[in-house]
Amino acid sequence: MSEDNEPPLVKYKYPLIGHTWDYLSNVGDFIAKCRAQYGNIFTINVHGRMLTIVGKEYAHEIFVSKDCSFARGFDEITPLNEILGLERNFTSATAELVRKTLMDNVDVYTHHFQNVLHEKVEEEFGNLETKNVDSPLDFVQDIVSKTMASILLGEEARRVPEMMSILLETSRVIGESWFIPNTLSYIHPYLHRLRVLWTVRRAGDIPQKNMALLAQLIKPIVDDRIRKEKTLGSSWKEPVDLLSGLINNKRIDKSNVDYRWIAVHIQLMVFVAVHSTAAFGANCLIGINWEELLEEQLEVNPENKKIITNEETNKMERMDSFIKESLRMSGVVVDMYHKVLESGFQFSNGYSLPPGSMIAIDKNSIHFDQTYTFGNPLEFDGNRYFQKDSPSTKVGKTYIAFGLGRHVCPGRFFAVLEIKLLMAHLIRSFVIKPVGKTRIKNLTFAGFIIPFDKLVFERRTK
Ligand code: HEM
Repeated sequence: MSEDNEPPLVKYKYPLIGHTWDYLSNVGDFIAKCRAQYGNIFTINVHGRMLTIVGKEYAHEIFVSKDCSFARGFDEITPLNEILGLERNFTSATAELVRKTLMDNVDVYTHHFQNVLHEKVEEEFGNLETKNVDSPLDFVQDIVSKTMASILLGEEARRVPEMMSILLETSRVIGESWFIPNTLSYIHPYLHRLRVLWTVRRAGDIPQKNMALLAQLIKPIVDDRIRKEKTLGSSWKEPVDLLSGLINNKRIDKSNVDYRWIAVHIQLMVFVAVHSTAAFGANCLIGINWEELLEEQLEVNPENKKIITNEETNKMERMDSFIKESLRMSGVVVDMYHKVLESGFQFSNGYSLPPGSMIAIDKNSIHFDQTYTFGNPLEFDGNRYFQKDSPSTKVGKTYIAFGLGRHVCPGRFFAVLEIKLLMAHLIRSFVIKPVGKTRIKNLTFAGFIIPFDKLVFERRTK
């Protein structure tokens, strides 16, 4: 413990560079080495910034504490509020929207999802019997983003293809901002933030322009719905989609609608819903044990119905275990940034952090711990959680793929349902290769784990 009781700072040679090189070249190995030497709480110097890494036995203290802010941590990594023109503490509003609009109507959404999914998969494959997929991530991202955006937008908006392009283009620009080189952080982390905003603006300020355009495009749809609500009264059947949720939000005055606010929140939802679901969906594709999963599909849906109910999807226990295992082994190694608020933060072991400290969670210390997993944690075992009463959406101190505590992912039930439906459809329709004894390799790039290998899809004859 250092004099002021702060967590130990991992030694480094060069002041400016700190641990950046080790972090970028192999974040998993680097963090594991630090953990072995310093324990489950330590501070590293990456991109000119001190970052405290918190692992097992202590991570939950961050998730439940009111002294650590998830929204402020997120904001430091991605200045989404300034890119899109949002209020600063927008994550809580989005979480509420997910709970109220998505989760209350999850059956309706998953029904739409399947209809659109089948269409998008067919679009992707056309008449091909065999298709080489060079990037599983791009492949899943393409299908999931089009499908998600389409179900969130609603019926009328689906007829305006321009909206879809706007949403997907803006998501792409936001995603790309994560890969802008972090060199200015060596002078001050705030300069990197300015660089991100400057780069986005210099490239035509696509997000802001797109939001103005989206606001114009949704205006007639919103006005039409409000007019119908007024004129038809109780006989008005309001569509079940995100747009309705936003129109009915307490922030919206129906006689003076803030169309831009609605547009930005549609964008935000598409961004949060699509990015992680697509990345994890792609990680599932590089799994193994397809034949067992196919067997389960034949039991759950023997007639090969196009639309499966949520009840049937919940019966896919093997698939759930497979998804949980994929989630356990994937994702960003150092993730779930939190910022310490003005009160400072004290760990139960006596370490403390001053206001403004940045914290990230060491997921591997939990997900690869021998005592927390059934069997060898280093191996991919799709059946690891099968019949263990350990569903993929149930978070806890031993499994944090969706976070934990105050900001636990409100979209996790929806995300897992969608991944199950995507996988079910692909497994039923295609043989996915290579089907080997081990999981194909991921590429770790700048701290991100990306499925990085080619797959071959062969259409099943029946
Ligand atoms: C496999 C897919 C997904 C993964 C792995 C994932 C993971 C996460 C994680 C790790 C957090 C941070 C939790 C924390 O720090 O405690 C989070 C927050 C959040 N997620 Fe997800 N997520 C996924 C899909 C979704 C979807 C589909 C939606 C929306 C429909 C969504 C909406 C949100 C929101 C709004 C928050 C912020 C919650 C808050 O501030 O209270 N996520 N997610």
